Amino acid sequence: MRTQVCIIGGGPSGLLLSQLMHRAGIDTVVLERRTRDYVLSRIRAGVLEEGSAAMLRKAGVGARMDREGFVHDGVFLSTQNRGFRIDIKGLTGKSVMVYGQTEVTADLYKARDDMGGTVIHEALDVCPHDLDTNAPFVTYRKDGAERRIDCDYVAGCDGFHGVSRTCIPNAVLKEYERVYPFGWLGILSETPPVSHELIYAGHERGFALCSMRNTNLSRYYVQAPLTDTPEAWSDERFWGELKRRIPPEAADTLVTGPSIEKSLAPLRSFVAEPMAWGRLFLVGDAAHIVPPTGAKGLNLAFSDVHYLSEALIAEYEGEKGATAGYSDKALARVWKAIRFSWWFTTTMHRFPDQTEFDQKIQNSELDYLSTSTAAQSTLAEQYVGIPY
Ligand code: APR
Ligand code: PHB
Repeated sequence: MRTQVCIIGGGPSGLLLSQLMHRAGIDTVVLERRTRDYVLSRIRAGVLEEGSAAMLRKAGVGARMDREGFVHDGVFLSTQNRGFRIDIKGLTGKSVMVYGQTEVTADLYKARDDMGGTVIHEALDVCPHDLDTNAPFVTYRKDGAERRIDCDYVAGCDGFHGVSRTCIPNAVLKEYERVYPFGWLGILSETPPVSHELIYAGHERGFALCSMRNTNLSRYYVQAPLTDTPEAWSDERFWGELKRRIPPEAADTLVTGPSIEKSLAPLRSFVAEPMAWGRLFLVGDAAHIVPPTGAKGLNLAFSDVHYLSEALIAEYEGEKGATAGYSDKALARVWKAIRFSWWFTTTMHRFPDQTEFDQKIQNSELDYLSTSTAAQSTLAEQYVGIPY
């Protein structure tokens, strides 16, 4: 088989890249190691920056998002149960779209099907070859047979545990990482959201977040030690802890119910440089991971897709070398989101080893944020997404 761009990974970044390439007349094949059902079973955050929502519309995949998504013009923060609202729309003129990543991925799969896109599931042992030549190819196993795809370029959209990043020689690849000493215990409950906007709560007992998926499906998180397990948190214990950490007006109106999903996720910041090597380009989680505090994971993946799709289209339109700037352009925006996510995580969470001085600094940071328009503007412009 031959294609122009071979995309490894059928998650949101691989699918969006494939969709944008197809609409530009560029042929792609997506190789996904899991079944579609497995990919669509993943529960993940969905706060879309304005730029991400615009990219989905540009790709012809925005209709259900615009019908069923929630446009949020603000977000609540609280410290020690004292809440305040950040008027994102008023401060930036932009909004965020709350629309689950699972729905985004489902919409992208449907769009690929509608356009007759090629997504090969259960593609095993995917392996890129000759990336440092102008004739790379990718091998994989399907139904027990060895297959080969010859291509011009390979997009590594295969997530943090994928194969693509390992193809960059150790002498070239540099990795940066910070692992946080706590996790997020998250639940889904078929209950109405406690607030029409998200609540990020800092508290001496630990961080908490109130989010939602739709008018009767809520998503809540509490910071928990990494030594905990979901089994150690009964629903009763979870609801009680959440109420202690959020503002009283929310705690008093919180509708609780049985959890239909419960999981403990670790938090890390991670960046791999460069995001390109020869004819290979890393995209999304394959190149970087952010703690979910700033809701940047999906948005950074789409940011990479924006830069790479523009570069590849330019190459095929005759602008030789247009892809040479991809890594630097993508990384410049990645690091800004990495920094924001690190700052927001460090400000809102309690660290096991933090001193009383650290605690005072955290409280002062949130106190300043609660009263300063300049400070709120800084948070708002990064939360809604800095321009590409
Ligand atoms: N071969 C083929 N497919 C692979 C391989 C491989 N060796 N390794 C991983 N994959 C597939 C995974 O099964 C997954 O479906 O690549 C896909 C990668 O998707 P994501 O992990 O969702 O990464 P990305 O598309 O970059 O989206 C980033 O997903 O993890 C969240 O928080 C993250 O919201 C962000 C978004
Ligand atoms: C979620 O809805 O799961 C969510 C929302 C915002 C975040 C993280 C997770 O910052």
